[in-house]
Amino acid sequence: MRIDVFTIFPEMLRAPLRESLLGKARERGLVRLEVHDIRDWAKGRHRVVDDAPFGGGPGMVMKPEPVFEAVLEVLGYPFEELERMKSEVRVVLTTPRGRRLDQPLLDELAAEERVAIICGRYEGVDERVLEHLCTDAVSIGDYVLSGGEAAALVLIEGMVRLVPGVVGNRESIRDESFRGGTLEYPQYTRPADYRGLKVPEVLLSGNHAEIEEWRRREAERTTLRFRPDLLGR
Ligand code: 6GU
Repeated sequence: MRIDVFTIFPEMLRAPLRESLLGKARERGLVRLEVHDIRDWAKGRHRVVDDAPFGGGPGMVMKPEPVFEAVLEVLGYPFEELERMKSEVRVVLTTPRGRRLDQPLLDELAAEERVAIICGRYEGVDERVLEHLCTDAVSIGDYVLSGGEAAALVLIEGMVRLVPGVVGNRESIRDESFRGGTLEYPQYTRPADYRGLKVPEVLLSGNHAEIEEWRRREAERTTLRFRPDLLGR
């Protein structure tokens, strides 16, 4: 899988993308991930990437040219072949106006050979970017962030861990929360007694049938407590 990220704040992404599972996946060549500074495609001495909105109103809007030029050059398509590009690459804009991210959308994106992510900024992005350059608009929830960079990280982490080979144990992906309608059961590890805080007895019993039954019940109880909306689905 190859992921290209376009942002005016590349440093917000570079360090986190070197850490943990993501960094490992890159080192092992399972995913190729590059962060591009949109400002490198901005014109003029001041390399301006935003401007006042037509029609007036508060705030600034991200200009279309640097975004189009950056994406077309990096992905290697001429402007005339935008439609072919969009049939070959998922081009995602992070914006609170987008489709709300969930596990099925991550599954879908993780199956792609090539994904580009454009981080929205300011009060908005010129609508021609969404309308003509992007295939998807994605939001990570119903609240407002000042930019799409943190959302892009969420998206990338969610996708990359689904790429075969990145997570060693396929079972942990098969069994995790949001698959099968309930959240995961609670987990414990040593010590069995920490200052009087005890691990449920059944987990120490070695009785696998009972443990399995306990986990099933606890998963349901946790879901009912924190996410009752999931049980109705
Ligand atoms: Cl993708 N961007 C911004 N700016 N805010 C958000 C978001 C994205 N998703 C939720 N809030």
